[in-house]
Order: sequence, then C-alpha cells, then structure tokens
Amino acid sequence: MLEKSKQIRNTFYEEANKANSIQELAELRDSYFGRKRGLLTLLMKQLRDVTPDNRAEIGKELNELKLELESALERMKGQLEVQVLNDRLASEQVDVTLPGNRRLLGHAHPLSQVGNEIEDIFYSMGYSIEDGPEIETPYYNFEALNIPEHHPARDAQDTFYVSDSLLLRTHTSPVQIRTMETRRPPLRIICPGRVFRHDNPDATHSPVFHQVEGLAVDEGITFADLKGTLEYFLKAFFSERTKVRFRPSYFAFTEPSAEVDISCFVCSGKGCRICKMSGWIEVLGAGMVNPAVFNYVHYDPERYTGFAFGIGIERFAMVKYSISNIQHFYESDLRFLEQF
Ligand code: DAH
Repeated sequence: MLEKSKQIRNTFYEEANKANSIQELAELRDSYFGRKRGLLTLLMKQLRDVTPDNRAEIGKELNELKLELESALERMKGQLEVQVLNDRLASEQVDVTLPGNRRLLGHAHPLSQVGNEIEDIFYSMGYSIEDGPEIETPYYNFEALNIPEHHPARDAQDTFYVSDSLLLRTHTSPVQIRTMETRRPPLRIICPGRVFRHDNPDATHSPVFHQVEGLAVDEGITFADLKGTLEYFLKAFFSERTKVRFRPSYFAFTEPSAEVDISCFVCSGKGCRICKMSGWIEVLGAGMVNPAVFNYVHYDPERYTGFAFGIGIERFAMVKYSISNIQHFYESDLRFLEQF
C-alpha cells in the first residue's frame, strides 16, 4: 500500500501539471477525492484490511498524502484564479488614449452671429435692446414714421397685408415709435428683428430678412454724434482700417437723411468686382429724426433732437464674409453653415 500511495502521489503531480483550468482542476480533485471512485478514497477504504500492526504506519502515510494533495489543489486553484483574472484584465483592457467619437456640436446661425455682434457693439456703447411686434398696424409702420398715404412703400406690391388694418412690418422702424410712446428721453436703443417685403427671392432679395434699428434721442444731439457713432460701430464691426462716407439721401422719418458707405475692404478703395469699381460699399441708411415724427409721439421737437439708423443684418453678413447670394442664409445647407 505504501507503494500504491507513492504511485498516486506521482501520477497526481503529473496530471496536476497538465491541469490548465479551474474545470480541469475540479476534475482532478474528483478523480482523487471523489466519494465513490476517487483513487485516494478507494485506497483509504483498503485501510480496513490492513493488519493492525501496519495500520498506524500506513494510516499516517495516507493521511499525510491526503493533506499534501489537498493543499496542492488549493494552491493550484489560487494560482489559476489569479491567472484567469489576469487574462480577463488583459482581454478587456481599455485604451484610454484612443480618440473618442466626436459628437456633432451645433452652433449659432451666421445671421444670429452677426446680429449678436452688432448688439454687443451697441450694448457696449450704452444702448439697450428693444423688441416690437412683427404684425403691425399701418399707423406704426407708416403714418407715425411720416410715410404719407400714397407713398409707394404702402402699396400692396411692397407690403404683405394681413387685413385692411394689419400688415407684416416692412422694417424695424415702428419700434422707434413704440419705444418713444412709452419712454421719455434720453433714449438709446437698438431693435433687432425680422421684417417682411413682397419681393421675389433672388440673389439680393428675400421676402423675409432681418434688420437692426437704432435710435438715440436727447437734448443737443447733432449729426456729428450720428457720424461718430456709426464710424465707431462700422470700424468695430468690419475693421479699424474701414473708411466711412455719408451720402445725402431721403427717408421720410429722418431729415436730413444719409446713406452710409464703407471703403471696399477687398480693393481698399481702388475699385473691384465687389464694390462695382466704385471703391465703396453701401451698408446702411441713417439720419436725424424728423421733427414730424417727434410730434406723433409728443416729444417737443424744440427741445429734443435725435438720430436713427437702419442696418440690414443679411447685408452686413454678406459684405463681411463676401457672400454673393442671400438665399444661402435660408437653405440650411450644412456645407454653407459649417463655414461659420
Ligand atoms: N427703415 C429703413 C428701411 O427699412 C431703414 C432705415 C433708414 C432706418 C434710415 C432708419 C433710418 O432708422 O434712419 O429701408
């Protein structure tokens, strides 16, 4: 039996060397310690038949073998568990240095960006931002702005009428009237917003577009204040090198009125395709508030003067970014929008 015990020990270690998984180890344990057919179990059962003289010695040897193999199995189990864990860590390893999936981030529409820029510049000069309705009455859109009854702008060819007494505002100037009706001078406001005109869409026209109206009213405001304000604004918006030119013009709600040009930033005034060889680009309309307008809102024209200006947001964006077709703003084409 001692011989047998030695044999078992040897084959156990031989087989143990080959066991590579927890499963194989469990099978190995079973083949030695299984209750019915375990080799060691069977051997220990034979102890009954051993003569009492030898029983102590053989029993001791078998017990030692049992403890030895059990602890060997435990040790191997521990090693295999560590190995399994290491394998898993290696196979599930995450490379934290790999670049992630970039998420598409939206951004403000170029018209919003340009509108915000204009607002920021005037805000920094102490202007506040006002709002007004897009559906207006002829009184605010025309009459109080000194645009007489038979003026062509009032024609249904230029204006969208909602009914006889309501229309879609054709400019942001009615906000001047609404603001002056509810506030007293001094006043410095701008009003950005959507405006509507009965125009066929083409490269420079859209039935819906955007303006920023400006208005300053106080005692002693002169044309020089208008010039200084717009020059500062246009240099801040386009570039410090921009030159500004005022040309006489006509608007019913301002007197005198002017159209304002900036020097062409493409050719610096030498003449090119962008400025149509003139060296100048027209960018806005402006003037001194017509006293007739003050009368509508019960401001004393003897005491107060003011200036007003109207900026086309699309026009500013097109000039600043050399965009040749206004329709690009409304087509939601990402190839266009992603450039801003
Ligand atoms: N309301 C004018 C338009 O839409 C733009 C404008 C011109 C506004 C001169 C003004 C101004 O306030 O002074 O054509």
